[in-house]
Order: sequence, then structure tokens, then C-alpha cells
Amino acid sequence: MDKIKIRGGKVLEGKIHISGAKNAALPLICASLLTDETVTLTNMPMLSDIKAMNLLLTQLGTQIDEFDDFIDGHPAKTYAYRTKEAVSLIAPYDYVRKMRASYYVLGPLLARYGKCELSLPGGCAIGARPMDIHLSSLEQMGAKIEIKNGYIFADVKGRLKGTHIIFPGVSVGATCNILMAAVLAEGRTVLENAAKEPEIGDLANLLNAMGAKIEGIGTSVLTIDGVEKLHGAKHKVIADRIEAGSYAVAAAITRGKIELINALPWTLKRPLQVLKDMGVRVTENENSIVIDAKGCTLTGQDIMTEPFPGFPTDLQAQFLALMLTAEGASMVTETIFENRFMHVPELLRMGANINVHGHASAIVRGVKKLSGAPVMATDLRASFALILAGLVAEGETTVNRVYHLDRGYEKLEEKLKSVGADIERIKEGDEE
Ligand code: EPZ
Repeated sequence: MDKIKIRGGKVLEGKIHISGAKNAALPLICASLLTDETVTLTNMPMLSDIKAMNLLLTQLGTQIDEFDDFIDGHPAKTYAYRTKEAVSLIAPYDYVRKMRASYYVLGPLLARYGKCELSLPGGCAIGARPMDIHLSSLEQMGAKIEIKNGYIFADVKGRLKGTHIIFPGVSVGATCNILMAAVLAEGRTVLENAAKEPEIGDLANLLNAMGAKIEGIGTSVLTIDGVEKLHGAKHKVIADRIEAGSYAVAAAITRGKIELINALPWTLKRPLQVLKDMGVRVTENENSIVIDAKGCTLTGQDIMTEPFPGFPTDLQAQFLALMLTAEGASMVTETIFENRFMHVPELLRMGANINVHGHASAIVRGVKKLSGAPVMATDLRASFALILAGLVAEGETTVNRVYHLDRGYEKLEEKLKSVGADIERIKEGDEE
């Protein structure tokens, strides 16, 4: 397994290009299953999760053509997806256990073929992450759902029926899945208490470009009038707000100055406000954000994760790392997942002062210095928090299990090196 080695103490300065959003690309790929025509996605990030999803769709019968592209000043991938006819309607355990977002094939396959067999994703490091909202909503649309031998057997006679659904909880995944189910359903579907993350808007925009009839994009009430058939389309993936927020913290924690090219300020309002409240200078341009913390003394701030437009849970670990270097105390409260403080024990080994209460909150007190150490990555965003701490710690930090990072951060060490970080990837077996 590769490792990443960082020598802390460098002030990061320069520009970083933000890639297309992983959490938009994954449902966008599955939306291509809804038509027998070609769906072309540009500005796609080069991530292992995208490769995994492409493998799954190939298994279902999708033809995928891959092109190297150059979008908005940075290399990206363009993929053309075409599912003339599915050869399988099964998402096997081996795929789903590696990437839970495989469950995004459920809505489209049920909508187009009236049938899908999906391995239950099971829990993951950050929580149980059940699918009850996905499944109960599909049942309200007329699907028969049976769970046997760790698989979901879903089918519907004829078409899914449009209906009025009030989600019992705000769920990004359920909103995406039901949106994709509703676009080919018979009649009107109203989704209340829908998630409003920008990635859902990106999916809805692609679906409408394919001929769907979705209204209320960006609000918590989505109205979908089902159509008989959808056609192909071309769509550029929205910029990754979590990647942008992660590198914004890299600038702030090293007291440097980084321009985040292609980042969209409207997708990061709450995190940018927290940075401003801490004393960071933030400049919001139309297609970039400048984070300037040069010479700043930062003060701790309380953060609480909430559904969009609240503070994103996917930036909690990164901001907690930032609070380690701020003056005073910060209360970090996690309300979305039940086990999302796994970065804490590793940060404590680097000399942090953090006290976790139960599962939901941690009090962080700024310390004068952190010391480099070998640390273990556990989940995607917690791993980035360890990288951030390594950027400011005295001495050398080695982050193990880097495969977590490769799921969600494209060319991570190249991007950080380009702004002055002393960072290198040690390929497995290359160690001296
Ligand atoms: C998406 O996960 C993201 N993943 C997550 O990002 C992100 O943290 C999360 O949304 C919240 O923003 C992708 O987009 C691929 P949810 P998702 O359904 O859809 C509970 C990353 O690092 N819930 O909004 O699984 C659930 O357990 C990843 O990129 C149910 O109880 O999140 C959680 O507590 C990590 N029943 C809460 O809702 C359900 O049927 C929010 O989950 C569905 C969800």
C-alpha cells in the first residue's frame, strides 16, 4: 500500500485547479443508464471511485469511451456512456462492498427495466448508512422490495408510479436515486424534504438536458413529471466543493495564500464564512476563490455539520485539523454520521488537544505546535485531515493507507507540491 510522506513547515502559495466533483460524477454516470443513447460527461475527475463505477456499468452492458481532455486550464477526462441494452440488472456484492455509491444503479434500472438486484452496501467506517429511505420511497412508487441473502430484489410490474413522497430524513443518496426513478415514472412525483446539495442540482440539470421534466432544482421540494423516454446529452461536471474546501484549509493551516481555480463560491458559503470568522481573508471571484491567511492569527470557531446549505460533514475533519492551530477553543459537532471522528486518535498522536464527547461533539483547543508522526488513514475525509496536520507539524509525517485518499482527491501530492508543500508518495515496495 502506498504512503504519503510530508515534511511540515512550508507556507503554501500559488494556484490549485479544482477538479470535477466526485459526488456529482457518481450519480451522473448512473443517469446514463436511463437512455439507450449516448451521455457524454466532461470535466470528469481521475479518481478510483470513478473507475470503480465505470467497471460496474461495463458489467451491466454499458459501452464506455474514454478521452483525455483539457477543461478550464486543467487536464480532465471525458467519458461517453451508452447502454443500448443492459445485459445484466445485478450489482454484485464485490462491486458494492468496495463502493456504496454503486447503489445509484437502483433507481435507473428500476425505472428503465422494472427490475434490479443490488447487494446491500452494509455499513462503512463512518456509520451504518442504511438504505431505508431509498427503499421505502421506491415502494411508495409501486416497486416490490425484498431483502434476501444480503441482496435487495426490487421489481415493478410495468412503470413506477409518480407519487407524493415526504422523505423522513434529508438524504443525498435517496434524493438522487428517487430523482432518477421518477423521471421515467408514470405521472407526477413530488419529493418533499429533498436534499439540496449542489451535486443534486447538477444531476437534475443533466436529467433535464436528457428530456426530463424536473422543477424546484436547488430547493427542498422537487416536482418531476415522468416521460416515456429520455435521449442522450452532453454535460460538464460541477466543480468539487469538498476538494476546494479541503485545499482552502491547506492555505489557512499553513498561513499561506492559494487561489482555488474553478471553485464555485456559492457552493461553499458556510465554510468560507467560518474561515472569515477565524480571521482568514477570503476573496470570492466568479470562478475562483482566493484564501489568504498570510501573517494571520486565527481564532477558533464552533462548527456544526448540517445538510446543505449548512456546514458540510465532508469538511468537518479538515476544519477540525485547522482548529488545532487556532487560538482558543472550538466546538465541533457532527450531526450527519454517527462515527465521524476517526481522525481524532491519529491527530492526538501528533500532539493535538481534542476531547471527544460521545459520538457527536469534540472540543478542540489550539496548541503551539504539532509533531510529525506515522499515522493511519481510515476514511476519505479523515485522511485529508491527517495530510493537513502533516503540513504544519514539526518533522516528518507518514500517512498510511493512501488508497482512501485516491478515492476522492485527484493528483493530491502534485497539487500540494505545486504550491510549495514538501510531500512525496512512496509506492509500495519503494521504501528504502
Ligand atoms: C453522500 O452520502 C456523500 N457520498 C457523502 O460523502 C456525504 O458525506 C453525504 O452524502 C452527506 O452529505 C456521495 O455522494 C457518494 P446521506 P449519502 O444519504 O448519500 C442517513 C465522501 O466523503 N440515511 O445524505 O450516503 C445516513 O446514515 C462521502 O465523499 C438513512 O438513515 O449520505 C446518514 O446518517 C462520505 N437512511 C444521513 O442519513 C437512508 O436511506 C445522511 O446520509 C439514507 C441515509
